[in-house]
Amino acid sequence: MAPDKDSDRLAFLGQLAAGLAHEIRTPLSTLQANLQLLQEDFAEPRDERERRALQRLTLLLRETARLEEILNDFLRFAAGHKLDRRPTDLNRLVADVLDFVGPEAAQKKVRVLRSLGELPRVALDANLFRQALLNLVMNAIQAMPDGGELILKTAKWRDYAQLDVIDTGIGMNAETSLRCFDVYFSTKKTGTGLGLPTARRIVHEHEGTLTVTSEPGKGTCFTVRLPLEKGAAPPADAIAL
Ligand SMILES: Nc1ncnc2c1ncn2[C@@H]1O[C@H](COP(=O)(O)OP(=O)(O)OP(=O)(O)O)[C@@H](O)[C@H]1O
Ligand SMILES: [Mg+2]
Repeated sequence: MAPDKDSDRLAFLGQLAAGLAHEIRTPLSTLQANLQLLQEDFAEPRDERERRALQRLTLLLRETARLEEILNDFLRFAAGHKLDRRPTDLNRLVADVLDFVGPEAAQKKVRVLRSLGELPRVALDANLFRQALLNLVMNAIQAMPDGGELILKTAKWRDYAQLDVIDTGIGMNAETSLRCFDVYFSTKKTGTGLGLPTARRIVHEHEGTLTVTSEPGKGTCFTVRLPLEKGAAPPADAIAL
């Protein structure tokens, strides 16, 4: 797609914002380091006043940690990625991610099922793509607070490798399905709302698509399609959702 004025401006704003985030990080770490020193000074409070000071310091440190997390999430999202694409066994990558989240899933009473079809290798930056997949899988687990099923399916679809991340969780209403890829959109108490936009960005950088279908109370399916031949045109539904 040829860059138009709006996309130029957005890219420029993105760069400015990323620069600002970087700038904030330095004084923030000074703040954090000094708060930590103060916390050590008050580690053994001698009276009520010092005990209160320690409490406040602990709170401040928690807030600075939260700020740092917000900045890191943002920078991870804003950074344009230089891809290191290599022929990758997508099924193997899926199995790795499922092994990684296995304990978390078991703890949440989520049954993990996989249906991995035969696939040629896909040109992937495995580390980046793993991050995208992990975001999808974590969302799926978080959508099933009372347990359920997490299903990962791979199959060849035309000239694409298709990966479905399916859950039997709370699902999304029409508005949430439409907005879920928006930056900072979140319905969760402690959600940042960068998981899905980051995942979609990574998939797009691989010339693929990430779409969703969902039904409230039934569950959700996120579908990733990745071109099997590098440089292939995106599938027709590239602009869907
Ligand atoms: N599998 C899912 N089932 C139901 N709702 C989902 C699912 N995945 C995403 N959502 C909805 O989309 C929103 C955005 O998801 P996204 O991953 O971008 O942010 P988040 O999970 O809220 O926060 P975080 O930045 O920690 O990932 C979620 O808050 C939730 O409302
Ligand atoms: Mg998320």
